[in-house]
Amino acid sequence: MFRPLFATALAAGLLLATAGAQAQNKLKVGFMLPYTGTYAALGTAIENGFRLYVQEGGGKIGGREIEYFKVDDESDPSKATDNVNRLIKRDQVDVIVGTVHSGVAMAMAKAARESNTLLIVPNAGADAVTGAMCAPNIFRTSFSNWQPAYAMGQVAAERKHKTAVTITWKYAAGEESVNGFREAFEKGGGKVLKDLTVPFPNVEFQALLTEIAVIKPDIVYSFFAGGGAVKFVKDYAAAGLNKSIPLYGAGFLTDGTLDAQGDAAQGMLTTLHYADSLNTPRDNAFRLSYAKTFKLQPDVYAVQGYDAAQLLGAGLNAVKGDFTKRNDMIAAMEKTKVDSPRGPFTLGKSHNPVQDIYLRKVEGKENKMIGIAVKGLADPGRGCRM
Ligand code: BEZ
Repeated sequence: MFRPLFATALAAGLLLATAGAQAQNKLKVGFMLPYTGTYAALGTAIENGFRLYVQEGGGKIGGREIEYFKVDDESDPSKATDNVNRLIKRDQVDVIVGTVHSGVAMAMAKAARESNTLLIVPNAGADAVTGAMCAPNIFRTSFSNWQPAYAMGQVAAERKHKTAVTITWKYAAGEESVNGFREAFEKGGGKVLKDLTVPFPNVEFQALLTEIAVIKPDIVYSFFAGGGAVKFVKDYAAAGLNKSIPLYGAGFLTDGTLDAQGDAAQGMLTTLHYADSLNTPRDNAFRLSYAKTFKLQPDVYAVQGYDAAQLLGAGLNAVKGDFTKRNDMIAAMEKTKVDSPRGPFTLGKSHNPVQDIYLRKVEGKENKMIGIAVKGLADPGRGCRM
């Protein structure tokens, strides 16, 4: 009699102890970001933003302490599947936060779908991630490539420009950005005369700048980011083109890059879901906290990393940190309104932010908000079945 009872009590005790330990376990967060190459600064800003939100919460999200794992994806799609599997299979992370480059992100989305790992994309705009590849376990806190580009096409048409040449890197982000611009610009009566590309991450622009000078469009629309954006904007000005053909772009062209671009970027107009002079209490508090912690000014990438942590927090808070309640957690993430420094945003059906796209003008070291290009812009989520 005594022995089975004792054994049962012992087993129950063990179970309780295991459950207790489970509750105490750290949540495993895997950063898959570029820490080298042309997008290195973007990866660091995203990680900084994420960590800042955790720090503000006393080192926890949704009551859980965090254990970090890191992989440098080098913005190299050919290594992406191996890299993401390091986090999924080797480190067995609970959630992946990444990445910057659209080509890498598509491989990550495929792996996340297959393994049902929670993925939060804090930058890469690949339309398919919240389009044909959408899934209940895939969320994005940044933008789709279509969003800022479409807004700029609309602005350019409203400004009565009639012709444009586009120039970008030849990969998903550049191509989708150009397509978004074209869609709105041509709908508004403009015409794209030519699409120019260089392979990613090349920065040899001279021959293409000469071609632009020969075509003489009303404007140029461009997608570049990080180190490549610095070089392109400087080369465009050095060729004297900024005096006769305004250079427009998705805001990545001048975000986090103004110190290095200096005079070459002055007066440029771009569209993005963030700006330096929003001057809201929420953004001011974020900017102060970021500057104090990292001795750096934040940019759009830092905001997107911060919001990835906020979104995860919304899910975890709803289930009191119990990551096993995945469905409830995902439902809470879908419903939340993220109190972002960019302004509050919700998620559309395909898990992409529905957000205001600002029109910004470079003044000194700031991308100054001069208006809202499109209010509450939702990505069409083409091909998403969920
Ligand atoms: C992208 O590859 O999706 C991307 C990279 C840098 C900035 C914006 C988008």
